[in-house]
Order: sequence, then structure tokens, then C-alpha cells
Amino acid sequence: KKVVLAYSGGLDTSVIVKWLQETYNCEVVTFTADIGQGEEVEPARAKAQALGVKEIYIEDLREEFVRDYVFPMFRANTIYEGEYLLGTSIARPLIAKRLIEIANETGADAISHGATGKGNDQVRFELGGYALKPGVKVIAPWREWDLTSREKLMAYCEEHNIPVDFSNKKKKSPYSMDANLLHISYEGGILEDPWAEAEDDMWRWSVSPEAAPDTPTYVELTFEKGDIVAIDGEALKAHEVLEKLNKVGGDNGIGRLDIVENRYVGMKSRGCYETPGGTIMLRAHRAIESLTLDREEAHLKDQLMPKYAEVIYNGYWWSPERRMLQAAIDETQKNVSGVVRMKLYKGNATVVGRKSEQSLFDESIATFEDDAGAYNQKDAEGFIKLNALRLRIAAGKGRQQS
Ligand code: ARG
Ligand code: SIN
Repeated sequence: KKVVLAYSGGLDTSVIVKWLQETYNCEVVTFTADIGQGEEVEPARAKAQALGVKEIYIEDLREEFVRDYVFPMFRANTIYEGEYLLGTSIARPLIAKRLIEIANETGADAISHGATGKGNDQVRFELGGYALKPGVKVIAPWREWDLTSREKLMAYCEEHNIPVDFSNKKKKSPYSMDANLLHISYEGGILEDPWAEAEDDMWRWSVSPEAAPDTPTYVELTFEKGDIVAIDGEALKAHEVLEKLNKVGGDNGIGRLDIVENRYVGMKSRGCYETPGGTIMLRAHRAIESLTLDREEAHLKDQLMPKYAEVIYNGYWWSPERRMLQAAIDETQKNVSGVVRMKLYKGNATVVGRKSEQSLFDESIATFEDDAGAYNQKDAEGFIKLNALRLRIAAGKGRQQS
């Protein structure tokens, strides 16, 4: 019996290692990934070794994460419930995929994770797991054990000689946090009161808009088929794009969000998010699409978006409906290439210019000046009259109400 655990190297998942070994008398394989959470992953090796783990996987997945998950999602301008840029949701399918691949490599029949029984993350890990390995066993310690308080967890550490400095943080944060290249999230603590404003020192990635510089920063983003491939003319890998935009965005107070959202399991939860790079990318992507997409194509795509967001939020990345939507979205991105110029200033990311070889914008038609016959204004008369036909018929029958 062998189980692959998504291991952060922190205290909670270290307790899970011991607990799995004891409770299930099984071999634990640990998997730790760098997806841009901003913490060293290598220290997880020594910690896992100290817990008697023999098979230890430590991987840098930053490029794969942004290239194969974040970018495809941004092609759809995806946001959940009008606000949330899905920073945590989009990282789970990749973790689930690696858990299963490692299970297959090491001959493990089970996977395990440190998500609670109340949240979305358990759903995302496990739906992914089942989708990719139908017979896999899932062990979710938080749903099973009785270590329900900090005190009990500490007592368990003491009893089992788990060094308490396995905690990643110098001081235990009062929030439940999750970070990767796309965002950092905060839940719990004082945030459980939706009326209570977050303290300013909670935010870790961005300065407050008030404290941001008094002079704007300009960036030029080059798109190719819907993805950003260069910033200010410098070609960058996918994860470097986000790293760079997080930095300039955070420096200018961009990307803070404070919302109450509907979790898939049925409850409402209040969360705060910092998504500086993502906020800039979303704006810029809409701007380059505004030049390059056909109107009906753009509008239909926008109708699909909320469904696509829900699919990702609820954990169905590895599903036929996600693949189907992705195919439709990707089809629209063939001509979404060009450059967007953005002004970043005190919490705002404003588009100030856009250009594209694939632009459908025709100055000679759009102009308010004489357009030399490209558009005959007389044609508009019939266009409007025929479109008004059904309205006039209804009005003639006395149906019109003001
Ligand atoms: N509520 C957000 C989501 O469901 C963030 C979850 C954060 N996860 C965490 N383990 N702290 O995507
Ligand atoms: C958790 O419960 O593990 C975090 C919150 C969530 O998954 O929604």
C-alpha cells in the first residue's frame, strides 16, 4: 500500500505524512511543486526524509502551470461571479495530474491532500484524480482525523517528534493562504466577518493604491494567438510574463480584491485576493480582442465564459465540457495578435493604445470625416426600418407600452 501526498513541507502536511504512515500503515510518497508560491521547495526534501519518506518528488512546474493552465484560461477572459480570477482553482488540476502520474510511476494506489472537508480544493483535487485514474483511492485526512484544533495538532507533533519548526512561516499567519504565480489568497481569521475591512498589513504582493508612486508606469504587451509573448519588446516565457507583471502591478497597487463568493459545496465564503499580473493581462487581452475578433464571435465567447469559469471553479478541468469549451475558445484566438499599451497608476490598469496586423478596425470606414463611399449612410435608413418592422406591427396592434 502506497500513497502519494501533495506535500508543502509545512507543518500540517508534515503531520499528514506521519498520520498516513500510522493510520494506514502505508508507504508515503511526497510531491512538492514550485508553482510560484514564493517559498523554497527544496527544504521539503530534508523534512520528508526526516519523516522516513523514501520517494520524494520536488518539481519546478512554474512554466507548465502558466503555459498550459493560466494562459488557456485567460484566452476566455475568465472570471467567476464577475470578480474572482480563479488563482487557486486553476492550479489544482495540475497538482491533481502530477499526483496521478506519480502514483502510476511509483505503483501507488492512493493519493492524499491537505484540503479541508468544507472547501472547493478537496473537490478539485479529487475530481481530477478520479478523472485521470478511475480506480484511485483518495485519503483526505482533514475529513477523517480528530486533530481539529491547533492544540491537538501540536500535541500530535510532540507525541510523534515532528519538529514544530516544520512550519513554513516564522509567525503562523492568522489567515488561510494559498499562493502561486497567478495570485495569493487570504481566507479565515477576521475576514470571516464580511463587514470587517482587511488590515493593510495582510496584503503581501501589492502596495496600497494610496502608497503607490505618483508617476504612472507604462508597459507594452505583445500578444500572439491570445497569449502574451513579450513585454516592452522583450520575449519572455509564460511564467516570466506573470512574474514581471506581478512585480509592476504590485508596485502600482493593482489587483486587490475583497469578495464574498459561492463555494461549490454550498456555503458562501469571504476571501481577499491579490492578482496584479492577472488583472493587467485580463484588461490587455480584452483590448487586443476588441481589435481582432469579429463581433458575433466575441459576444458568443463572452456568453460561454461564465460557464467556463464555473467549470474551472467547481473542479471540472479534466472533463469533456472543459475540453469542448477550450476548443471553441482556442479557435477564436487565431488572430488575437498584436500589441497593447497599458498605463499602470495607483491601483488602475488602463488601456491607452492597441495595434494589430490582424486588426478589423477600419479607420476609413469608422471616420466621422467623409469616407469616400465605403459606407453609404443612406443604407442605414432601410436597415433601421426593417429592424423596426416587428416593433411597428406590434405598436399598430396597440401593444406598445411606454
Ligand atoms: N476560495 C478560493 C477558491 O476556492 C481560494 C481557496 C484558497 N485555498 C486555500 N487552501 N487557502 O478558489
Ligand atoms: C480548504 O478548505 O482547504 C480551503 C478552502 C477551499 O478549498 O475553498
